[in-house]
Amino acid sequence: MDIAVIGSNMVDLISYIDKMPKEGETLEAPDFEIGCGGKGANQAVAAAKMGSNVMMVTKVGDDLFADNTIQNLKNYGIDTEFTEKVPGTSSGVAPIFVDPESKNRILIIKGANQHLQPEDVDRAAEKLKTCSLIVLQLEVPLPTVYRAIEIGNKHGIPVILNPAPASKDLDFEYVCKSDFFIPNESELEILTGMPVESDEQVKAAATVLIEKGVKDVIVTMGSRGVMWVTKDKTQVIESHKVAAIDTTGAGDAFIGCFAHYYAKNGDLLQAIKMATAFAALSVTKRGTQSSYPTAEEVEELLKIQA
Ligand code: RIB
Ligand code: NA
Repeated sequence: MDIAVIGSNMVDLISYIDKMPKEGETLEAPDFEIGCGGKGANQAVAAAKMGSNVMMVTKVGDDLFADNTIQNLKNYGIDTEFTEKVPGTSSGVAPIFVDPESKNRILIIKGANQHLQPEDVDRAAEKLKTCSLIVLQLEVPLPTVYRAIEIGNKHGIPVILNPAPASKDLDFEYVCKSDFFIPNESELEILTGMPVESDEQVKAAATVLIEKGVKDVIVTMGSRGVMWVTKDKTQVIESHKVAAIDTTGAGDAFIGCFAHYYAKNGDLLQAIKMATAFAALSVTKRGTQSSYPTAEEVEELLKIQA
């Protein structure tokens, strides 16, 4: 195995709307799509699409979505030995609303994801030890995330922590034990309580985390690009100019593609550049996983914009 994603899966119920109804109002919206999502699964699929061998430790419910979700992971070649059903529970679902400006609003109902426990990570430990990178998000219980970080640390496996969705309860002791901390700018704002409007402000907020002991903070800022902050330097990697249709899951696209390249050769800057291109292409299509490009499409974009 190259990469272990320990985290969530959801079924995305995406409504493309002209505007949000007000309280008590019924409005018609032009379109709807159902797709496989969830931050963990999205990141796993992005890495797998780029060619990594990925395993996923996750939980699905006991409903009509469960088999479809497992089959979807398998279709991308993802190892599902530790993808389990939780009896009597619904699968995680995410009603998503995308407006004409391609901005999204997302509700998550975690369902079975709430049942992913530290013991589930322990049971997968033998296989996790064969991985060269562990990828984590915050749509499953925090103790589970912490256990995964401990296992990574114990076996010398680097850990990516994507603090999404942002949680004020996140324990900084564990943040410092992860190797790469990758928030988007609004998550950084929530976690540090600092403004993130300008690049200077993002840098100041990220520096607070560096001072607390985090080694690499990589802030994804959408069309503003990506800021990589370490103790010694700060670098902004520009985004690609694309026509955005649906930005849902673009952050996950970045993380999964970054994980693939980092696990492959340890070159961080190349991993950030490839992931930036991968995420840019994902916003040009509807949906989350269904919008993720192929390796060839990423190469093509880099050639055109070089
Ligand atoms: O990051 C996007 C994802 O967030 C969606 O796929 C949705 O399922 C939620 O988990
Ligand atoms: Na998309």
